[in-house]
Amino acid sequence: MPNKSPTVFSKEKQHTLELAQQYLIPGRVEALKNFGIPLVVGRREGYYLWDQDGRQLMDFHLNGGVFNIGHRHPMALATLQNALSNLDIGNHHFPSTVRAELAEKLAKLSPGYLHYTVFTSSGSEANDVAIKSARYATGRRKIVAIDAAYHGRTGLSGAAGDDAVARYFHSDEPADFIKVPFNDLAAMEEALTNSDVAAVLMETIPATYGFPVPDKDYLPDVKALCKKYGSLYIADEVQTGLGRTGHLWGVDCWSVEPDIMVVGKGLSGGLYPISAAILSKDVGSWLTDNPWGHVSTFGGAELGCPVASLVLDLCSSQETLDNVNRIASFLKEGLSDIQSRHSYLCDIRQQGLVIGLQFDHPNGGIHMSKALFDHGIWAIFAGFDSSLIQFKPGLLVDQDYCALALERFEKAIKVAENKIDTSPTISINPDV
Ligand SMILES: Cc1ncc(COP(=O)(O)O)c(C=O)c1O
Repeated sequence: MPNKSPTVFSKEKQHTLELAQQYLIPGRVEALKNFGIPLVVGRREGYYLWDQDGRQLMDFHLNGGVFNIGHRHPMALATLQNALSNLDIGNHHFPSTVRAELAEKLAKLSPGYLHYTVFTSSGSEANDVAIKSARYATGRRKIVAIDAAYHGRTGLSGAAGDDAVARYFHSDEPADFIKVPFNDLAAMEEALTNSDVAAVLMETIPATYGFPVPDKDYLPDVKALCKKYGSLYIADEVQTGLGRTGHLWGVDCWSVEPDIMVVGKGLSGGLYPISAAILSKDVGSWLTDNPWGHVSTFGGAELGCPVASLVLDLCSSQETLDNVNRIASFLKEGLSDIQSRHSYLCDIRQQGLVIGLQFDHPNGGIHMSKALFDHGIWAIFAGFDSSLIQFKPGLLVDQDYCALALERFEKAIKVAENKIDTSPTISINPDV
């Protein structure tokens, strides 16, 4: 069993914490300390990372899927090293072989009739591109999104997500961004009924809300409503794409064909930032009409393209998807077994390796994150609901790794379920 997180830090770690507190993320350093999770990531390899103090942790956060194929995957490292021998960022104004070939691969692997790719550095920017494209294509301004969704923190993506943070920065746009509850089809139809909505922006399984799985017909019905009222369907697959659900794309689980799909995080192979908005030919007509309509200096930087191409090969392979489904069944059984002994684990939400776990206390997710941290697992609580954690194993993990994780999980839950906490519900979102 790994040592409990020490409360006295090594000189090196103390130095990092002080610098970060002074120059980088003062509030966050403080909050993480208060949660009892003062992690400073040092070494990282495969599905493990090490606190700067040397303590090893199993990574069940993976930064939302950035490290789907593991930290520093040897093939991804070799691909990037090879790219470094003859490429650099490239010039975004001109055609590029690696960028064009990656766009072709995305078009071939994407659902339905998605065709053009606009590359960006981050998922937030890719959502901005998606929203801009939908507005241009429909001539409408309004966007409908889920009230507990996270699409990023740039202007448009921020306005499309939960209201609290956008409002905090005076960048909410309530007239143009209409929010409806998840899994509520009647509310969705009411929002679309005036036929003045450009697009519905939908996280396939809302991550920051703790991965509530959509009702069986919800996503296909939303798509049908979009068709009925002339709105486009944007699938934010930043967390659910690239094999995590056991299908290459989350929307494939419900046979939904979006008009725009947003991909990020894992596309980077954990090594070089790259994200993408993939547009149908119709939606991407601005790429012909207005050749410089959207440009991004670092979007689709050439160094990242061969890595992203490798990621797509790995994540779309039958071998990987079979592994995801095998491990998903193993974890389902193991977690249900733990639940039979610990009612504190009150809900298991699962679609493949998209897993949200709810605990029987309003701050249970935070308590469990801390207990897991002390037992050698890093899994983050859900930002919009502190009773949950996101539990995200890698796509290439094996059964032994997961068996060890379940063993640690049960030890951790015994600690968390006995914690007495009468403090108010903790929210990491400033609600204003
Ligand atoms: C579903 C979803 N969409 C978009 C984003 C934004 O991506 P980025 O942080 O790369 O801007 C995130 C990031 O966590 C996300 O989880």
